Amino acid sequence: MSDSAALSPARIAPSILSADFARLGEEVRNVVAAGADWIHFDVMDNHYVPNLTIGPLVCEAIRPHVDVPIDVHLMVEPVDALIPSFAKAGANVITFHPEASRHVDRSLALIRDHGCKAGLVLNPASSPDLLTHVMDRLDVVLLMSVNPGFGGQSFIPQTLIKLRQVRALIARHVAGGGQPIALEVDGGVKADNIRQIREAGADTFVAGSAIFGKPDYAAVIREMRAQIALADHGAA
Ligand code: DX5
Ligand code: ZN
Repeated sequence: MSDSAALSPARIAPSILSADFARLGEEVRNVVAAGADWIHFDVMDNHYVPNLTIGPLVCEAIRPHVDVPIDVHLMVEPVDALIPSFAKAGANVITFHPEASRHVDRSLALIRDHGCKAGLVLNPASSPDLLTHVMDRLDVVLLMSVNPGFGGQSFIPQTLIKLRQVRALIARHVAGGGQPIALEVDGGVKADNIRQIREAGADTFVAGSAIFGKPDYAAVIREMRAQIALADHGAA
């Protein structure tokens, strides 16, 4: 049995970046019916990352189609102006990259002031040290396991080391009386590597191409949960 047996229940958060945008309402309904816990919503501005995606209007458009949390991952610079817009559009969780905000503590507070859960996103080369002075402002830490900007890239194995470090940081924070903090991973997550990602300490799993790239979303999510159960309960 691994340490992950002590983790909170796993959440699967399909990234709609790989969905069919021409049928987005139907896509999010289908993936929630297939067992998704959150909808992961990738916002790219062609400035912080070299790609351009979707904004608050699209968040507002899908909101009535699902009752699960919408997890907005901001890959934009600057950050602050979009926070109230996404909160109004129905976002539940808002995360951003610390390099993209001049005042990280203030941006985190702004997210909570607008009634959303707040989180920081660490790129593959970013250190967990960035978290230490804002732990009490965090509801989520999102570790990028690819460089942000595109779906369909390969998982960077070094992320497993950082997951263990951040899991230990969160455990210390909670043991000292701090609030719980979700540990999310994003990029290249598939049914065939999710077990080791769980064993390294993740509790929230973003998967875009692995789910939307297959015809049967429920089958993929079932297989992911089965692999997570193996991590939690041990198996030969
Ligand atoms: C990348 C995005 C990811 C991406 C994941 O910048 O943040 O959410 O869509 O896609 P896959 O699962 O295909 O790597
Ligand atoms: Zn993302």
